[in-house]
Amino acid sequence: MTVGITGLTMVSDEELIEKARLARMSAHAPYSNFQVGAALLTSDGRVFTGCNVENSTYGLSMCAERVAIFKAVSEGMQEIAKVVVVTDSEDIAPPCGCCRQMTWEFGSEATQVIIANLAGQVRRYQIRELLPQAFDSRFLEGVR
Ligand code: THU
Repeated sequence: MTVGITGLTMVSDEELIEKARLARMSAHAPYSNFQVGAALLTSDGRVFTGCNVENSTYGLSMCAERVAIFKAVSEGMQEIAKVVVVTDSEDIAPPCGCCRQMTWEFGSEATQVIIANLAGQVRRYQIRELLPQAFDSRFLEGVR
């Protein structure tokens, strides 16, 4: 972690991937046995992490990315700069549709989604690529 010229903390992608990997270790996933870790970098340089949290009532389960987003929003986060997702899948797993939509809500054209696996493979996307034709608040303008 370094301090940039703007005074904001600079966190490298490698550090974010490591934070997501560690967060994954807290996953509560006894039903799917698919542990996911997330690390979110806000545009003001803060990092929030999350893991998936499952429930015996399966439908209550929550993805790692949204846990991180909810934590960040509850701490005043305005904008997501990057979301990193780490899984142990052979083919690196991208975020589900709900998490893409939730990332879009707090994202910008510059928001990056970085997916990685424990084998060290990494892929980078813009949220726009993962969620073309997104629904957002623009469509609610003018609605009474
Ligand atoms: N999961 C995530 O945490 N993030 C995603 O983007 C996809 C799926 C979790 C939900 C569930 O606990 C497990 O992975 C299997 O679907």
